[in-house]
Amino acid sequence: MADEVLVIGAANLDIKGRLFASLVTGSSNSCAIKTSFGGVARNIAENLARLGTPVVLLTAVGNDFAGHTILDGAGNVGIDVSRALIIENEPTGTYLAALDQDGDLILGLDDLRVMRHLTPDYLRFHQDAFRHCQMVALDMNLTPEAVRAAIHLAREYGKPICVDPTSAQRALTLRPYLHLIDLITPNIAEAEALLGSEPIGDSDEALQAARRLVGLGVERVVITQAERGACYATVDESGQFAALKCAIVDRTGAGDALSALVIFGMREGFGMAESLQLGLRAAALTLQSPETVAPELSLDRLYGME
Ligand SMILES: Nc1ncnc2c1ncn2[C@@H]1O[C@H](COP(=O)(O)OP(=O)(O)OP(=O)(O)O)[C@@H](O)[C@H]1O
Ligand SMILES: [Mg+2]
Repeated sequence: MADEVLVIGAANLDIKGRLFASLVTGSSNSCAIKTSFGGVARNIAENLARLGTPVVLLTAVGNDFAGHTILDGAGNVGIDVSRALIIENEPTGTYLAALDQDGDLILGLDDLRVMRHLTPDYLRFHQDAFRHCQMVALDMNLTPEAVRAAIHLAREYGKPICVDPTSAQRALTLRPYLHLIDLITPNIAEAEALLGSEPIGDSDEALQAARRLVGLGVERVVITQAERGACYATVDESGQFAALKCAIVDRTGAGDALSALVIFGMREGFGMAESLQLGLRAAALTLQSPETVAPELSLDRLYGME
């Protein structure tokens, strides 16, 4: 039965150090270091799997301890990683972050060279997964060639395409394909990059930006605006919702949880307003969790949130 979500993109190790005192450059700084599984595609896949959605993840890791641990962890939460690439002589993707005492990013470093191995040939080799799935979800940690191939394969088999633009820089790759995309979930910086526009200053401008992306051919647009919440637009409707107020434990993964819930809602046939409200709740649950994906995530939990 064609019911799984085919998620394509990065699965990596996140290593984050939070400083105990002000930064001293050119020196070692005492901090609390936390290691977790990350990668936008992997995070989205885990959120979907925790909601009971069948998920297949196409990704690439190195043949090292981190790579095997990531794939084992993904398998344990129910993600099908049987098609994942394990690459010799290339380290598993790693994201290193130095955070200040408030948890804000001082410096981020990512090594995602392993993703070069996720080629158009690999995607074509797995075209039965495109044929078999209900919809395709991509992050932008793919090479431009892989993005093109993934979008064309999804189109060839008539499957809806959902994209998390991942970063402002990486979002630029998407500009030629906007008319082929069914759902996109940029944050403000990514929306500005997609539109090549002036800075988006407030919620009204975010809503206008969402409508402009619909004008460029995207079926459904969600623009997340951190503490201001998120808005959505389709050809027929649009709206803005506030973020839920919550104590933030760790910011990582909130945007990915929101993307996952909007994808989930689309798969279940929910309206955009309901899907986005679930997404905002999932984002708040994630912000309150020290983990990148809240382990307690469930639909009951989300509907029970104020
Ligand atoms: N400071 C905050 N206060 C309240 N809610 C927040 C805050 N930051 C993020 N959120 C919630 O998380 C959602 C996604 O956040 P954001 O717009 O920063 O996306 P993002 O940049 O993709 O995040 P991420 O860094 O997790 O990928 C927001 O729409 C909001 O609901
Ligand atoms: Mg994001």
